[in-house]
Amino acid sequence: MARIIAGVSSSHVPAIGAAIDNHRTEEPYWRRVFSGFEKSKEWMAQAKPDVCIAVYNDHASAFSVEIVPTFALGCAAEFPPADEGWGPRPVPVVKGHPELAAHIAQSVILDEFDLTVVNKMEVDHGLTVPLNLLFGSPNEWPCPVIPLAVNVVLYPPPTGHRCFMLGRAIRKAVESYPEDLRVVVLGTGGMSHQISGPRAGLINSKFDKAFLDNLTKDPKKLMRMPHVEYMREAGAEGIEMVMWLVMRGALDDNVREVYRFYTVPASNTAVGHIILENKPRAPSRHAAPKRRAVRLKPAARRAAARARIDRVHG
Ligand SMILES: [Fe+2]
Repeated sequence: MARIIAGVSSSHVPAIGAAIDNHRTEEPYWRRVFSGFEKSKEWMAQAKPDVCIAVYNDHASAFSVEIVPTFALGCAAEFPPADEGWGPRPVPVVKGHPELAAHIAQSVILDEFDLTVVNKMEVDHGLTVPLNLLFGSPNEWPCPVIPLAVNVVLYPPPTGHRCFMLGRAIRKAVESYPEDLRVVVLGTGGMSHQISGPRAGLINSKFDKAFLDNLTKDPKKLMRMPHVEYMREAGAEGIEMVMWLVMRGALDDNVREVYRFYTVPASNTAVGHIILENKPRAPSRHAAPKRRAVRLKPAARRAAARARIDRVHG
């Protein structure tokens, strides 16, 4: 059976991708940002997920404003990096997991979440920047990644409650997949930022840190937060944080926070990052009780062996 072992959230600031692509990661300004992800790369190398499900938003790269699905699941075998105006990022093609993605689509849609199934799609910085932050810059990404694009660019985006409950449905889907896969769910975007209008450059560290606290300990409080509160407290683009609730909904109620990092600024945003692990589950009360091994006497062991042979050859 597949299972979700952890959830990881991080900002997906496009300027972080540009700093990587233009070899500027050692500059003091960027060093401050990248140093916060050194531990995460170590954690990811140890966790070695078989598959990641990456919840992110497309920035008019795969979907123009003509068609904007609320939730779109990438079911293709691969997802090339998108050209966002200055050529595709020099990062590996993202390999998908079509079998698990199709299984999730079926399970989640039959659970009444109306996902759009996407069989051809390019992925932009919203997905590739977090992969760099968590895996570095390898020649190939170390595991398949299933993209889940969420609309947070065109009003109305889904509510935090809807996102959380979609996470729950994804967890159910993963846990009904027969192959023994260890899955990590990535929630990307945010934190507080606003890129245009009179409040451009807004950063609200107090709000961001409270959001991180609640993500670990009281996600139900975040589920109830209306869009207008994100807009007011975290800026127009702070609404991206609802995507973190898909990740949180896919985890157990009680999780272990193993790492957190927060810094400002990176470009014109706050950068937040958190790693939450599911705690080992207690055996189910309904599980069959373990049978005590019975030590047979030698004669009885020989008789039992003869009986097994008879069953095979009889
Ligand atoms: Fe974004």
